[in-house]
Amino acid sequence: MSDVNEYLQANEQRFRDELFDFLRIPSVSARSEHTADVRAAAEWLADRMREIGLDVSIHDTPGHPIVLGEWRGAGAGAPTVLVYGHYDVQPAEPLDLWTSPPFEPTVRDGRIYARGAVDDKGQLYLHVKALETLMRATGSLPINIIVIAEGEEEVGSTNLLPFVEQHAERLAADAVVISDTSMIAPGLPTICASLRGLAYFEVNVVGPSSDLHSGSYGGAVPNPATALARIIASLHDGNGHITIDGFYDDVRVPPDYREQMRTLPFDEETFRAETGSSTLSGEKGYTTPERLWIRPTCEVNGLLSGYTGEGAKTVLPSRAMAKISCRLVPDQDPATIERLFAEHIRKVTPEGVRVDVRNLHGGKPWRGRLQGPLYAAAARALEAGWGREPIYAGEGGSIPIVPEFERILGAPALLVGFGLPGANMHAPNEWFSVENYGKGIRAITVLWDELARNGSNA
Ligand code: BES
Ligand code: MN
Ligand code: MN
Repeated sequence: MSDVNEYLQANEQRFRDELFDFLRIPSVSARSEHTADVRAAAEWLADRMREIGLDVSIHDTPGHPIVLGEWRGAGAGAPTVLVYGHYDVQPAEPLDLWTSPPFEPTVRDGRIYARGAVDDKGQLYLHVKALETLMRATGSLPINIIVIAEGEEEVGSTNLLPFVEQHAERLAADAVVISDTSMIAPGLPTICASLRGLAYFEVNVVGPSSDLHSGSYGGAVPNPATALARIIASLHDGNGHITIDGFYDDVRVPPDYREQMRTLPFDEETFRAETGSSTLSGEKGYTTPERLWIRPTCEVNGLLSGYTGEGAKTVLPSRAMAKISCRLVPDQDPATIERLFAEHIRKVTPEGVRVDVRNLHGGKPWRGRLQGPLYAAAARALEAGWGREPIYAGEGGSIPIVPEFERILGAPALLVGFGLPGANMHAPNEWFSVENYGKGIRAITVLWDELARNGSNA
């Protein structure tokens, strides 16, 4: 292991410089003007993976490319691990709220500030550097490795699912390992116990054929903005409970789970302060971690209607639009929720306006089984790095491909992330701790060693 440590130390600066090159590529998957940048990030990553000795291929999809790297030199007796990550990032706007520009990575106070620093380029690239370290310091890898990196996670992973289905044999693995989540607090290594799923909708309300003078017509013609406000208000009752018929029917919580959650070091006040909100609120009868990890939501993500420019303009808008998403928990199914949501909207839409519900994208929720040699190896690797056992905590976010990997490949997923609370994922001033980038690389090298020793049938 000392060869590994020496190599890590000797290459620390270069590892950081390379990540900075990766972060400079604005691979924003949601924006068509960045299509070429997304491809450039895929190619950049493929080149780096090739340099360290993986067999690399780039697979075009109807959307952004998938990068695949393979190394099977450990032989049939050794475990095979599939490492997944995403090289696409969220849009960086609003740009004026960034202290340093989003695609010019900058270190301040031990943090790398850039869009994608923690979500997920930094965490994906630390896996590549862990592989390089083992390859160069020991001459080979102790396990067989497949790296799969996609460019569409932030837009729903729609083209990755068919790819995994079509290449299930090639992707066959004993375990799936992902770093795209966070630690519950600095210094507390964390294994993710669950992810929420997602069902995302666009709701369009259409009234009069054009905007109307709100004096000449207001009061006598149905207002789509008011109609949409009523629709939105109908989604929750006064206790923050979702009122869509049948919405909670498939919600399952394992026995004792709520008890266990109460023992986690979740700091409510730190969490509140991070948000800048004066108070926390949510569904009555549940704690904040429960609201985030084991309860579903129905949230407005965007709202548009009428005149929103400078000054006043007295119009009765002709249309109104909302983007609404539901975070889902086991065993809710996005397809069922899509049906129930559309039925609810139809039922509550006031007379005189038309409503149209479009499904944008979805993903199933996931709960880890947290047992077996894979999890034991992870616990030892994290303990080696942080000097303490990992904590098992939920995440409120979604990674749609995770339950699909488990289903299609029949292998358990391990989510071990090195982000920190308040890292501004998807927000201005996203950052990744310099220390965790280095410690993450080292922990992953230990993980592969541990797994090689005790991990057949991970
Ligand atoms: N890395 C996140 C998932 C995540 C979020 C993990 C928060 C831990 C905490 C991932 O990149 C993400 O943002 N996923 C999207 C999925 C969606 C676009 C289908 C999400 O959760 O909104
Ligand atoms: Mn991510
Ligand atoms: Mn994300």
